[in-house]
Amino acid sequence: MIDFNYYMPTKLLFGPGKVSGIGEITKQYGTRALIVTGKNSTKKTGLLDRVVSYLEKEDIECIIFDKVQSNPLTTTAEEGAIFAKEKGCDVVVALGGGSTIDAAKGIAFMAVNDGSVTDYIFGKAQIGALPIIAVTTTAGTGSEGDCMAVLTNPENNDKKSLKSQFIYPKVSIIDSELMTTLPKHIIAPTGIDVMCHAMEAYVAKNSNPLSEIMALKAIELVSKNLVSVYKNPNDLEAWSNMAFANTLGGMVIDASGVALAHGLEHPVSGLLDVTHGEGLAALLITWMEYTYESSLEKFANIAKAIGEDVGGLSIEDSAKKGIEGIKKLLARLDLTKTLSDLGVKEEHIDWLSSNALKTMTYAVNNNPKVPSLEEIKKLYTDCL
Ligand SMILES: [Fe+2]
Repeated sequence: MIDFNYYMPTKLLFGPGKVSGIGEITKQYGTRALIVTGKNSTKKTGLLDRVVSYLEKEDIECIIFDKVQSNPLTTTAEEGAIFAKEKGCDVVVALGGGSTIDAAKGIAFMAVNDGSVTDYIFGKAQIGALPIIAVTTTAGTGSEGDCMAVLTNPENNDKKSLKSQFIYPKVSIIDSELMTTLPKHIIAPTGIDVMCHAMEAYVAKNSNPLSEIMALKAIELVSKNLVSVYKNPNDLEAWSNMAFANTLGGMVIDASGVALAHGLEHPVSGLLDVTHGEGLAALLITWMEYTYESSLEKFANIAKAIGEDVGGLSIEDSAKKGIEGIKKLLARLDLTKTLSDLGVKEEHIDWLSSNALKTMTYAVNNNPKVPSLEEIKKLYTDCL
C-alpha cells in the first residue's frame, strides 16, 4: 500500500540563463538584499557583478557578505546574521555552491532567531528566517532543494545540519550555464556527493515511493553525465543533466534523509576540514559493501541505473556488480584517495566513531543495516 507525505515548498527555476531573472524574483521578497558568497569564484567569473546589476535594475540595494568558507562554520552564520541585522537586510541571496547556500540559510535563520545556532541545531524552538533566494553554481549538495544547512562548530568540530522548515529557499535558480566554469577538483567530488545523496536516500529506511523514483533518476543521470562534465566542463547538455540530478539529490535527502556514508563522512570533514565529496569517495565502497546485503533488491536496481549489464545474474550478483560499477566511476574521476590520504590517522578513529553516533544519529539509524560503535570503528579502519 502506498503511504507517504511529501513537502517541498521551494519554487525551482531551472534552465540555462535563468539567473538573469533574479531581480524580478527577489523584489517579491525584499528591497535590501544580503548577497552571501565565497571569497573568490563568483568575483572571478563575473557572476557577482552580474547579479548585483540584475538586482539594482529592480531597485534592490545590495550588501555583500563574502566570508563563506568550504565547510561553513556556525560562527560564520552568526557573524553574517549580525551583519544582516546591522544593515537592515530583508532578503538573503545565496550565490555559490552548497557551502555558500548552507551558510546563507544559517544567516537568514539567525537574523530572526536569537542566541546560538548550535542550540537550534540541537532542537531549540524556532521562530522563522529571512526569505532566501538560492543560486547554485555547483552540482553538489542539492541545498537549493532542501531545508538543511550543514554547519561545523569550530569549538568542538561537530558538523551537523540545522534543519528548519523556515530555511527552504523561497526560490532556487538552477542555471547550468553557471557550472561550466567550475574547476575539475570541485567537479568530481561534488558530483560524487550527488551520487551519494541519491544512493543513500534510495536505500534509506525512510525512503518513499516518490523519493525512490527521483533518487533512481538522479543515480542514472550522475552515472551518465559526471565523467562527461569532468572531462569536458564545456558540455552544457551534460551539465544540465548533472544540475537536474543535483536538485533531485537535494529533494530526496530532504524527503528521506542521508544514510551511513554521510553519517561517517561528516565527522571526517568536521574534524579535518577535508572536501566533503573526497571524504565520501573514500568511504563509499566500504559503505556499499557493508550495506548491500540488507537491501539487495535496491542495490541491484542501482546497478541497473548506472548501466551495468546484469542480464542473467542473481539479485545478489547484480547488487555486487553495482559496487564494481561505482568503483570504476570513482577511478574515472580520479577519486582514489583513502581516508589516510585525507589525513585521518588511527588515533582519530575513536573520536570519529563516537562523533558519528552523536551528530549523525539519524543518518546512521536510517541505513538499512545499523552498525554498532565497534562496527563503525572497523568501517573507518577499513577505509584508512
Ligand atoms: Fe552531501
